[in-house]
Amino acid sequence: MAIIGFGAAAQAFVQAFKSHPLFECVAVVEPHPEVQAVARAMGFAVFNQLSDLKSGVHLDGVYIATPTPLHAPQTIECLEAGWHVLVEKPMASNAAEAMQMVQAAARCGKRLTVGHSHSFDAPIQAMRQIIERGELGAIQMVNTWCFTDWVYRPRRPEELNPALGGGVTFRQGAHQIDILRALCGPQVKSVKAKVFNSDPKRDTPGAHSIYLEFANGAAATAVYSGYGGMSSMDLTQHISEWGFEQQPQQRNWYTRSHSDLTPEQALQAKQQRARTAIPADAPYQPHFGLTVVNGSLGDMRQTPTGLVVSSASGDTHIQLSNLQSPRDLVLAELAQTWHNTGTSNPAWHDGQWGYDNLRVCEAAIESAQTGYEVRL
Ligand SMILES: NC(=O)c1ccc[n+]([C@@H]2O[C@H](COP(=O)([O-])OP(=O)(O)OC[C@H]3O[C@@H](n4cnc5c(N)ncnc54)[C@H](O)[C@@H]3O)[C@@H](O)[C@H]2O)c1
Repeated sequence: MAIIGFGAAAQAFVQAFKSHPLFECVAVVEPHPEVQAVARAMGFAVFNQLSDLKSGVHLDGVYIATPTPLHAPQTIECLEAGWHVLVEKPMASNAAEAMQMVQAAARCGKRLTVGHSHSFDAPIQAMRQIIERGELGAIQMVNTWCFTDWVYRPRRPEELNPALGGGVTFRQGAHQIDILRALCGPQVKSVKAKVFNSDPKRDTPGAHSIYLEFANGAAATAVYSGYGGMSSMDLTQHISEWGFEQQPQQRNWYTRSHSDLTPEQALQAKQQRARTAIPADAPYQPHFGLTVVNGSLGDMRQTPTGLVVSSASGDTHIQLSNLQSPRDLVLAELAQTWHNTGTSNPAWHDGQWGYDNLRVCEAAIESAQTGYEVRL
């Protein structure tokens, strides 16, 4: 493997690559000198640009974790070079680009996988298995809520621009739609949404409420606010996105004043944050906010150590292993799709899945602009 773009997302993957027996990361492509130094200190060969890789090393695949607008051209370039591709979410800046990526993978006969996204997390995968076994009957509603400081974290300008795949509906909605489709079923029938851009000093879609209806009759909502008000950790027994306990007084919440940084200061703060933003080996299960499932036979939600399934006959607590991090679980799926090892739990996060997620995010923005439901 080589890693393309060595920011927060990529640095979070290093431990998983190091501990997986089938994958070895041999190189990093990264143009920024300070970030190159971080990669070299970890023992990676470093290249300035993607084209240098083609003559530099033998590869089976790449992990693309560059800014979202680069995903489509770099994915297509890598597929055409004969490499499998794992690309970060959101898969591209828009669905049209995502479709070109899907078509390039088919044309080149290579695998395209989209992740990490939060449906790889152990609690979401366990919920999906419970649903598939029919233990909750027909899935009627899935509701997911997430409240963070996303809007005020240090950002490059394009991260806030929805035309370039920025703002919470693309960047964070990509996780929520992924979770809702993993649990309700793949086919979204219609999308109605309101999206809010409420701080003129931080011009970006920063909050949304999205209502989905599925072809199988299920309904779902995705609620997100990135304006640094309430934290969804208040709904998750103080467990963070990455599975750490954070009491209110321990939360390093970014506030409105952070959006006053100059672009250079923001970049520096972002690079600093990248080193610790997404730790491995968490003591508790990851929580991308709180997701509650309602079926015709009962309900189910996350807990710090697993799940609780509730019905008229009482609660059943399910403990889940936290030995594998979300990134370990991405590599487990890659091992199946790239090396065809094991078929019991077939991979689902392929390019078409990522495209469909992005199409729903796009439909949410469209619905918010027109005021109408979008039928897919
Ligand atoms: N799955 C997750 O949990 C998660 C978390 C964070 C970010 N992401 C996604 O990962 C992607 C990157 O986000 P980030 O927060 O890590 O950004 P980042 O800015 O921290 O990292 C991007 C890196 O790419 C480098 N880069 C820029 N142009 C390049 C080029 N042409 N070739 C190679 N490298 C180049 C930058 O110098 C930077 O170091 C985004 O699409 C984002 O949505 C996913």
